[in-house]
Amino acid sequence: MIAAGLVPLSAAERAHEARVVAKIREAIEDAGGWLPFSRYMELALYAPGLGYYSAGAHKLGAGGDFVTAPELTSVFGRCVASQCAEVLATLGDGEILELGAGSGALAADVLGELARRGTLPAAYRILEPSPDLRERQARRLGALPVDIRRRVTWLEGVPQGSFRGIVLANEVLDALPVERFRVGAAGFEALGVAIEGERFGWRTAPASQALAADLAALATDLATPLPTGYVSEACVVLDPWLAAVTEPLRAGIALLIDYGLSRRAYYAPQRDGGTLTCHHRQRRHDDVFVNVGLQDLTASVDFTRVAAAAVAHGLRVAGYTSQAHFLLGSGFEQHLALVRAAADPSREPLCARAAARLVLPGDMGETFKCIALARDYDGALGGFSLRDFTASL
Ligand SMILES: C[S@@+](CC[C@H](N)C(=O)[O-])C[C@H]1O[C@@H](n2cnc3c(N)ncnc32)[C@H](O)[C@@H]1O
Repeated sequence: MIAAGLVPLSAAERAHEARVVAKIREAIEDAGGWLPFSRYMELALYAPGLGYYSAGAHKLGAGGDFVTAPELTSVFGRCVASQCAEVLATLGDGEILELGAGSGALAADVLGELARRGTLPAAYRILEPSPDLRERQARRLGALPVDIRRRVTWLEGVPQGSFRGIVLANEVLDALPVERFRVGAAGFEALGVAIEGERFGWRTAPASQALAADLAALATDLATPLPTGYVSEACVVLDPWLAAVTEPLRAGIALLIDYGLSRRAYYAPQRDGGTLTCHHRQRRHDDVFVNVGLQDLTASVDFTRVAAAAVAHGLRVAGYTSQAHFLLGSGFEQHLALVRAAADPSREPLCARAAARLVLPGDMGETFKCIALARDYDGALGGFSLRDFTASL
């Protein structure tokens, strides 16, 4: 990806970036001159009061840095609601726990559709680490009818008790900090961050024991060895994170949606520069050392890692499919027809185009995948009924 045409920062943004840079420089110096990339990503995104998700950047939506599926059209949330309704009906009751709810758009659409069907969950809990986004969600969901909004609460951490229902996350896995690595002549090296004059730069260090073990296990899944010089990422924190957020789920599914690939496709020889991507003002590029604290940093999801972590923590992979197949299996056409019928005629073509983006193979339809991880649930899952690619994981 090309870092051409970066949008210039305002004076206030440059001042904010300088504060984030100072914080990360301090962390690098404290660590002896080298920081694992995962720590750099964590600080750039989540340093309290400074990081991209912790401070006031607008982030999601047309006026922000990137647009997610729920921001594009309510058809996405209505389809997700159909899948939730099926699970809640099979369980007889239940709750929804949404992780990383962004602007609250998905929650609003899911709850709206469930209310329309008369199948509202007993509770809709949100776990959102960004104080700024939590406020935005509260404003948006506070405008819903009282019978809906009284079910919505925000959690300070992973719920302590247990519940039946659905854990839902759209585009959250890609925001987890990743390690970056390089295949050196003598084995795996960690690519971390060092200070280079006024800027940050990449520097290699021997991979820690934990990272080397993780990468050695990963390599055994690949058809061909990774060549020397190969660069990519590994989301080592995914396993403990998934364990924590699904631990309270007694019966039901975790429905995770994100851009990503099976392991063999992710670490294919030709994808030798990794998948790190930055989003700033609707532009994508790969320079993680500019707009520090002001741009989103993401990496595609290795869904084989997700599946392995799930199985290790007592969940079953109940389905893995493309977003297009998931949505089409969840009533996409009917939901789209309803949304188009309700739209102002002048906006109707726009509506249809936005929805098409969700399912088109060259757009979000194939890049994005959906995985269902079940615990004590063997009911039907309409979203995974058209095609199931679990065998590719
Ligand atoms: C790319 S945004 C997606 C927002 C929303 N789900 C959507 O689809 O529009 C990533 C979201 O994940 C949240 N997030 C980041 N790390 C998280 C974590 N460890 N646990 C839960 N949410 C997290 C962010 O604060 C943000 O709300």
